[in-house]
Amino acid sequence: MLHPKSTEISFLLNNGVRMPAIGLGTANPPEKLAETKQAVKAAVKAGYRNIDTAWAYGSEPFVGEAIKELIEEGAIKREDLFITSKVWPVLWDDAERSLQESLKSLGVDYIDLWLQHWPLCYNRREDPHGINGLARNPEKADGSPDFNEKADWLDTYKQMERIYSNPKDNRVRAIGVSNFPVEYLKRVLKECPVKPVLNQVEMHPRLPQFELNEFCHDNDIKLTAYSPLGSHGAPMVKHPLIKEMSQKYKASENDILTSFHIRQGNTVVPRSINSVRIASNIEFVPLSKDDLDKLKDLGRTEPKRFINEKWNAAVPGFSGTGPKI
Ligand SMILES: NC(=O)c1ccc[n+]([C@@H]2O[C@H](COP(=O)([O-])OP(=O)(O)OC[C@H]3O[C@@H](n4cnc5c(N)ncnc54)[C@H](OP(=O)(O)O)[C@@H]3O)[C@@H](O)[C@H]2O)c1
Repeated sequence: MLHPKSTEISFLLNNGVRMPAIGLGTANPPEKLAETKQAVKAAVKAGYRNIDTAWAYGSEPFVGEAIKELIEEGAIKREDLFITSKVWPVLWDDAERSLQESLKSLGVDYIDLWLQHWPLCYNRREDPHGINGLARNPEKADGSPDFNEKADWLDTYKQMERIYSNPKDNRVRAIGVSNFPVEYLKRVLKECPVKPVLNQVEMHPRLPQFELNEFCHDNDIKLTAYSPLGSHGAPMVKHPLIKEMSQKYKASENDILTSFHIRQGNTVVPRSINSVRIASNIEFVPLSKDDLDKLKDLGRTEPKRFINEKWNAAVPGFSGTGPKI
């Protein structure tokens, strides 16, 4: 049976905006940031229409250069693309500045999806080597994250909500969150009139996010899987069960790992700067229900979170890797 490619599948968000199921991640390491430009161009030429970036990645200017050239070459129009950006916690009280800087770096006049990157608030500090002159991860003298203990993380979402809800402001088509555990989502739903369209979290067979999937499904909130390959070095690609599925379905390991999410109605943002990989890993694999369950079981038998940031522990309910994560 013929199936659409992953790049041809899209999902409707709860505000009526349509989002392509697979997007290119652009959190490239600092020494490879400039390669983001050719990666985005390769991805768009291969059929990707969804690009995931963030104020904090430092990749927005390169995404912007790629978009500009692609439009000039006539490969796409701006409206063909779905661009996600995010507000980093150093700008927790100035989402407007974050948006203006992202739009300027990207060279666009609107973004499709704008996420609160973390439910955290840092004390802001200037740093000429940081992102747009600001330290990305301000630390205290003892090396611990320099959080603003008096601040409320929900203020950021409320500012984003005001910008999104202003009928005269067309700079953002949808808003959402990232790295929000269920209890945090509950507070957003209770206190904010605009429901987030999605929550972007680490997710793969070893971290299937059972509880978040159930809650988000029940509340019409999508999930986007980040680090779907296990991040640096793509350890999930080497997992024996993924290799077994890859042989069974005659598909690449990357395609098994991205289809795992799309098959469940979630979106996914794998990262690569390798244009051959970008172009070849876009097949959708119609995993059977049994195989989906077998993959999800890894979350019970071999739970693992690959992205362990210093600040994870500051978000209660986030860091545990027990069976029901
Ligand atoms: N919201 C958040 O807090 C958050 C956090 C983390 C990530 N993200 C988003 O999610 C995106 C993806 O997550 P991620 O960047 O952590 O990692 P990922 O997509 O899980 O893995 C990326 C790594 O896998 C490598 N790779 C890909 N296919 C491979 C293969 N077949 N064999 C060997 N290596 C392979 C890539 O190298 P090559 O480049 O050489 O292919 C790259 O180093 C990010 O770029 C970002 O957009 C969001």
